[in-house]
Amino acid sequence: MSRTLLTSIGLLALAGACLGQSPAWGQCGGQGWSGSTTCTSGYVCTYSNPYYSQCLPGTATITSPPSSSPTSVPGGGSTPSSTASATSGTATLLPNQLWIRADEEPNFHKYLQSQTEGSVGDAVIGPPTTAAQFNIASGQLMQFVNADTTLYAQVATALPNENRLKVFWSTSPATNITWSFQGDAVNGVVANATQQDTGAFLACDDVSADVPTVYLNLGAYDYMTPTGCADQTLNYYNGATAVS
Ligand SMILES: *[C@@H]1O[C@H](CO)[C@@H](O)[C@H](O)[C@H]1NC(C)=O
Ligand SMILES: *[C@@H]1O[C@H](CO)[C@@H](O)[C@H](O)[C@H]1NC(C)=O
Repeated sequence: MSRTLLTSIGLLALAGACLGQSPAWGQCGGQGWSGSTTCTSGYVCTYSNPYYSQCLPGTATITSPPSSSPTSVPGGGSTPSSTASATSGTATLLPNQLWIRADEEPNFHKYLQSQTEGSVGDAVIGPPTTAAQFNIASGQLMQFVNADTTLYAQVATALPNENRLKVFWSTSPATNITWSFQGDAVNGVVANATQQDTGAFLACDDVSADVPTVYLNLGAYDYMTPTGCADQTLNYYNGATAVS
């Protein structure tokens, strides 16, 4: 993707933040929608179909489809009801958001998300059915949870003898890492750290090999890979739905 287009995405993200809120009964989402995704007070952005979300009276916040069909939960024991090898999410990419996924085996097309869906805590890559949506602006990698909730990617300090920083989701913006897209690849520049490759990540089977935990690798890509980890880059994908 060209730098110009990337800049446009950045501007769109900024514009989205300034557009204010959608009025009562107004549109607040859907494929191709570039207006506000939040509603005026007392109204809730409610998913209707992939092409339309509307501000309806209420206080709960639902901006993506109810997760009825996904049956696999990160770390959970439930099994997909279908035997098809390919899975895809049912949520539709919201305006100004991107999916972020790994493109290399053994984690090909696993999608960035929280270990517990939509929650603070460790960052993992997992199934498209629970893929989260993101954008990067002002150096922050932001996970869109709902119109009221954004989670920010932070990096923990390295454990002794480890050359990697665990990525986790916080309600506070990061102050010690600057995130960006270089082409389609996520990069993180850590303040006061020496990095070989700012786009190098590790996916480690701390909890599960299927849904590995994400670390920023301070060392070189594919060099001295820790046991239980795989080298990964993280790349954005802007298809309407997360596909495996
Ligand atoms: C970055 O800041 C966060 C929040 O203050 C902190 O928890 C974390 O340890 C810091 N990480 C590094 C690598 O300094
Ligand atoms: C980086 O190091 C400088 C100098 O020691 C210090 O003032 C600054 O607070 C550090 N920044 C972070 C984000 O740790």
